[in-house]
Amino acid sequence: VELFLSPEDPRSLVVQIYDQIRADVADGRLPPGSRLPPTRTVAAELGVARSTVTDAYARLVAEGFARGRRGGGTVVIGGLRPPPPDREPPALFEPTAQADMIGRYGEGPARRSPYDLTAGRVDPNLFPATVWRRCVLRGLASTADATGHYVDPVGSNDLRHALSAWVGQSRGVAAAPGQVVVTQGTGHAVDLVARVLLRPGDVAAVEEPGYPPITSVLRSQGIEVVGVPVDEDGLVVDALPAQAKLVHVTPSHQYPLGAVLSPDRRRSLLTWARRHNAAVLEDDYDSEFRHEVRPLEPLHRLDRDGVVVYVGSFSKTLSPSVRMGFLVAPPGLVPALTALRQAVDGGPPAVIDAALTTFVGEGHLARHVRRARKVYLDRYRTVWRELTRLPRVRPLPTQAGLHVAVVAPDAPSEDELLERADERDVLVSTLGRTYQFSEPLAGAVVGFGAVATSDVRTAVRLLGECLR
Ligand SMILES: Cc1ncc(COP(=O)(O)O)c(C=O)c1O
Repeated sequence: VELFLSPEDPRSLVVQIYDQIRADVADGRLPPGSRLPPTRTVAAELGVARSTVTDAYARLVAEGFARGRRGGGTVVIGGLRPPPPDREPPALFEPTAQADMIGRYGEGPARRSPYDLTAGRVDPNLFPATVWRRCVLRGLASTADATGHYVDPVGSNDLRHALSAWVGQSRGVAAAPGQVVVTQGTGHAVDLVARVLLRPGDVAAVEEPGYPPITSVLRSQGIEVVGVPVDEDGLVVDALPAQAKLVHVTPSHQYPLGAVLSPDRRRSLLTWARRHNAAVLEDDYDSEFRHEVRPLEPLHRLDRDGVVVYVGSFSKTLSPSVRMGFLVAPPGLVPALTALRQAVDGGPPAVIDAALTTFVGEGHLARHVRRARKVYLDRYRTVWRELTRLPRVRPLPTQAGLHVAVVAPDAPSEDELLERADERDVLVSTLGRTYQFSEPLAGAVVGFGAVATSDVRTAVRLLGECLR
């Protein structure tokens, strides 16, 4: 309990103490069984005579709020009072219209079902728990000396070196360690880059359908967001608005429809960006899990003019709960990004930074990705086969990642689809929720990260029932 005494208060000191403790008991902040702090301690903290506190406690005991304990001390008594009233704190403030238009995406912490076809999840059984635990313990040990310090806002030098080597090997992206900025995932990367490049009122382009959190981040900064259509070759570059100063694109695996940005489109996007002086945010969120085919060169590799900011995430390759990602920025932006990150949140937690350094640097990430890729490839084939068996459901071909989008012209409304899914205990993501600027296609984004391969058949059958 934290007690406050005011000399201006007309009540006596005893009554002030008594009233505050009684209110704490009534509101549940002091639940039954809690010990009141010793009278001597309270008296010393408040600078009052011990008898003042003893008198207040005695009154609480006399009125049945507390009792003396054998061996000394006073404890709160339960069961005598009605539950605390649900008093709402006064609502003085409301979010601005700009903040209010940002909706939450998805339902937050995971519901559970063996038939989990939610997009964006990974297989918890594949998580390299033993190795990661070892890396975290080593991270704890290696950062023990520095517990009195703030961290490097854009990640430790060691981690930036490790990530520079990792994107070089895994994606052929040439990034000097000094260009690497460690982030808390993709949305954070987009937030940082937009803050240093755009002003409120500027225009940014995103894919439609796409990944709504990106739009939310940009809108929260007062940026005007325009949705640009995608087709089987990915983002339709010709439809980009001329005023756009930033383009968010998922070239390896368009989210959610799955197209790969064609070589022609890659070239024309870079030409467009150079001509319009716009930045391209290359969101490579799940390129590590490619199926059957060789990946195309990242935009970052094709970029001769420094217009591309490459964004990587560990949400698929390790876990979304680790909240780690990175971006590769043109060198000129790094000082501003560093200062901004220092001001906003100080930088990544040192222990996780050190753990990830070991995990990436000692090759555990590469081994984990190789292992997971095999499991996911097998699961992808199973999902694809089962989806193609559903009547009047069209799965869209995809070459990478952990989901397949399906178009189902007969599907019911989104609400009805979710209700049917609830009844069958299958978890699904609607395709509709990825549209923000135009009439959505009916269907689902079928994530297969979290469903066991042996449960795919049942899960897809249940999904089929929901879509009919
Ligand atoms: C297009 C896209 N980018 C990025 C991410 C991952 O975001 P984060 O790195 O913030 O977890 C996702 C997750 O599903 C996504 O769909």
